[in-house]
Amino acid sequence: MRVAVYRKEHFNAAHRLHNPNWTDDKNSEIFGKCNNPSFHGHNYELIVKVTGERDPETGYVCDMKIIKDIVREHVVDKFDHKNLNLDVEEFKNLNPTAENIAVVIYDLLRPEIDAKLDLKITLYETERNFVEYPA
Ligand code: NI
Repeated sequence: MRVAVYRKEHFNAAHRLHNPNWTDDKNSEIFGKCNNPSFHGHNYELIVKVTGERDPETGYVCDMKIIKDIVREHVVDKFDHKNLNLDVEEFKNLNPTAENIAVVIYDLLRPEIDAKLDLKITLYETERNFVEYPA
């Protein structure tokens, strides 16, 4: 009788995809426009999925007010209107692809949410491109 609940959030952020171990030509070839040294932005849509048993007293899987506050504090406030490469510690040495951003978000949220609840992150980088973690 497990039920999934979802919280949607949104943030805007700039990034650049770049592998410092490669030449500029190889970076340009692999990452294309996303390798632009002047960075570029995305309107990221984040969906946080929490799955578990309903609490018999509240009928909730979890209190969505608490989930909202956790996501805002640990992810949105940290990423929104930031340059992910320059402003966010987690990406100092990690290419900020949608895949890596989703894993970082999961790792930021996982300790904040009851261990008996499952967590899944869906991150839209564009309307048509999105990633899910864990897969
Ligand atoms: Ni991009």
